[in-house]
Amino acid sequence: MGRLEGKKAVVTGAAQGLGAAIVERLAEEGCDVVAWDLNRAGVEQTARQIGERTGRKVYGRVLDVTDAAAARSAMDEAADVLGGLDIAVCNAGVLFAGDSIGFDIAQWRKVIEVNLVGYFITAREAARVMLKFGGGSIIQINSKSGKKGSYKNTPYCASKFGGIGVTQSLAYEFAEKNIRVNAVCPGNLLDSPLWVDSLYKQYSQRLGLTEAEVRQRYIDQVPMKRGCTYRDVTNLVVFLASDESGYMTGQAINITGGQEMR
Ligand SMILES: NC(=O)c1ccc[n+]([C@@H]2O[C@H](COP(=O)([O-])OP(=O)(O)OC[C@H]3O[C@@H](n4cnc5c(N)ncnc54)[C@H](O)[C@@H]3O)[C@@H](O)[C@H]2O)c1
Repeated sequence: MGRLEGKKAVVTGAAQGLGAAIVERLAEEGCDVVAWDLNRAGVEQTARQIGERTGRKVYGRVLDVTDAAAARSAMDEAADVLGGLDIAVCNAGVLFAGDSIGFDIAQWRKVIEVNLVGYFITAREAARVMLKFGGGSIIQINSKSGKKGSYKNTPYCASKFGGIGVTQSLAYEFAEKNIRVNAVCPGNLLDSPLWVDSLYKQYSQRLGLTEAEVRQRYIDQVPMKRGCTYRDVTNLVVFLASDESGYMTGQAINITGGQEMR
């Protein structure tokens, strides 16, 4: 028996990276899942593979989290297909970093639109549907950058700080309705596509280091001397999704190997 046997879950930004790892872990723990992403081919393939491997019902569908009308109908459809809704993981996010003086404002706004407005849109839709089913657990994938400034990373930081405000406010609003809302604040997932496909290259150019040196530099910032793994994060997601965390709401929990102490 999994720790979330028979629960119904939705996950945003789930074609790859941490979102795909969350879908996989929820399915392993006994959930049926609707996985959403902008990337249709990617999310359909991820869902199919996880469904085959775990034997759970896993559906891959397109959803742009910034589209309020689409999110409304997608959440209703997901609850229909799954037969309810217990868990919503708001994971979709983008990161564009750069120096503030030259930062393109359209790109700055895009980060806020996806990470902050998109989070609010999907979380409120999840709450609306959970009200019909007697409650549930909403989990935002935030970041250590949601609590501490981050070098040349103003829009991402602003979006994640704002996300904690949304988490606390929704938690307050729905506390008496048995809907809990919490955030997870991971450290750097140094093996994720975000780093491997993009950030090592960006930071090596900016810092004048090789990509291996960039990786070591980020490991050295962590008291436990390693990057965050998907398993570290999904352990916390499962806990927050389960009744074991039943008295916790409005929290933003660090999972950083102690990095926020520095
Ligand atoms: N990778 C890290 O080191 C790290 C650390 C801390 C927190 N996080 C957070 O974890 C989450 C996932 O990050 P990741 O590293 O897996 O990123 P990723 O870029 O690998 O995956 C993000 C996914 O979100 C999707 N997406 C982007 N915009 C979307 C939109 N408007 N609607 C729906 N889907 C959309 C993308 O298509 C992609 O599949 C993000 O919220 C990120 O801020 C990541």
